[in-house]
Amino acid sequence: MITGTSSGIGKACAYFLAQNGFIVYAGTRTPNKIDIKHKNLYPIKLDLTNFEQLNNAISEIYKKHNHIDILINNAGYGFISAVEYASEEDMQKQFDVNVFGIFRVCKAVIPYMKNKKTEGIIINIGSYFGKVSFPLFAFYSASKFAIEGLTDALRYELEPLNIRVHSVLPGFTKSSFTDSNLIRNLDTFKDDASYAKILDTIPQLMTNIDNGSNPKAVAETILKTINNSYSESRVYVEGESYKISPLRDELTNDEQMLYRFYKLEVENTNIDKDELKIAMDAKEILLRNYTNPPKIEHLAKLCATNKTKLNKVFQKVYKVTIANYIKNIRLEKAYILLQEQSLSIGEVAKEVGYMHQGNFTKLFFEKYGTYPKNILNQKC
Ligand SMILES: NC(=O)c1ccc[n+]([C@@H]2O[C@H](COP(=O)([O-])OP(=O)(O)OC[C@H]3O[C@@H](n4cnc5c(N)ncnc54)[C@H](OP(=O)(O)O)[C@@H]3O)[C@@H](O)[C@H]2O)c1
Repeated sequence: MITGTSSGIGKACAYFLAQNGFIVYAGTRTPNKIDIKHKNLYPIKLDLTNFEQLNNAISEIYKKHNHIDILINNAGYGFISAVEYASEEDMQKQFDVNVFGIFRVCKAVIPYMKNKKTEGIIINIGSYFGKVSFPLFAFYSASKFAIEGLTDALRYELEPLNIRVHSVLPGFTKSSFTDSNLIRNLDTFKDDASYAKILDTIPQLMTNIDNGSNPKAVAETILKTINNSYSESRVYVEGESYKISPLRDELTNDEQMLYRFYKLEVENTNIDKDELKIAMDAKEILLRNYTNPPKIEHLAKLCATNKTKLNKVFQKVYKVTIANYIKNIRLEKAYILLQEQSLSIGEVAKEVGYMHQGNFTKLFFEKYGTYPKNILNQKC
């Protein structure tokens, strides 16, 4: 069963899974809008905000099939607003659909899914906005952060009942999102509003979504997640989400540090062009990689005072980043950075004080059947 299937990711997913042999109940408020046909695909009227209607629909599916194996919570919309202008109703609605909607559907489905021989699967569609926040997206981002929280809790809660729970985080994806499901707060968009500068970024963001990946990529990721019992808890879809989300594997203070760093560099009028370029590159690297807050602060101070030291700090950031990739078993990323920076695993180990070097090489060997050359050359 999938929610929010009249367009975009939900529609692509319903069709793709039906094509791949699943019996799909495509939940939507408007079944007549579902213009795709497949013998395995059954549109079903579902309003996430109506628990009674939801319960009836789900018990009806159960009566017909005697099991509901997979639930995909996809329905969601974005509310763009400055916090100060949002009405109580708008705030409540964003969470009512994006968060409480998931709770309601889970509440209705879990009794029919739990303790079956066949493993149950719940997949919640999050977003990389659920890992990284943007101005004017406080409500949407908060709702997507909430999805990560509820997904983690449910994962532990339902594991003993033979249900596994994941979140799938798409990046920019072409869908009806910008046309129909990005709701704007009009006060925020008034010409004389206080947020004019930030508003300039919205058209670009919308263009990114409109030029985003094909929603089929999300459907393919979902199918892989279903088919692999050992899928990661949080599954990133190729693109922005894949690049940016690992930054927030932990909720660190990186953002604040980065901002301070950025201000240091950009607002320092004495800084020459080359230095500014290096600083911006550093910022880019920090944004791409996964570092610890004290190290970023350290980097910020060094950047502000001494250009030559910057390269050393760069190396330090790379080493810490590689170590973090290794710790999080993101070997491909670690491998690429090791190669790019001509670093050995020994140097990485030295930087972070302690590394499970043996485990790392073993994992690498299992995955690639070989060790990267620079690992063989390491001294420690
Ligand atoms: N597009 C992106 O770049 C992107 C990126 C990351 C995450 N996402 C997430 O992916 C999911 C699907 O979005 P999409 O991009 O495929 O957009 P979409 O084409 O606009 O589809 C959104 C679906 O959500 C449902 N929905 C929207 N507002 C609703 C409301 N008020 N009450 C109940 N259901 C509502 C609609 O279902 P019905 O009209 O069929 O009932 C609609 O089909 C969302 O959760 C979104 O946050 C999208």
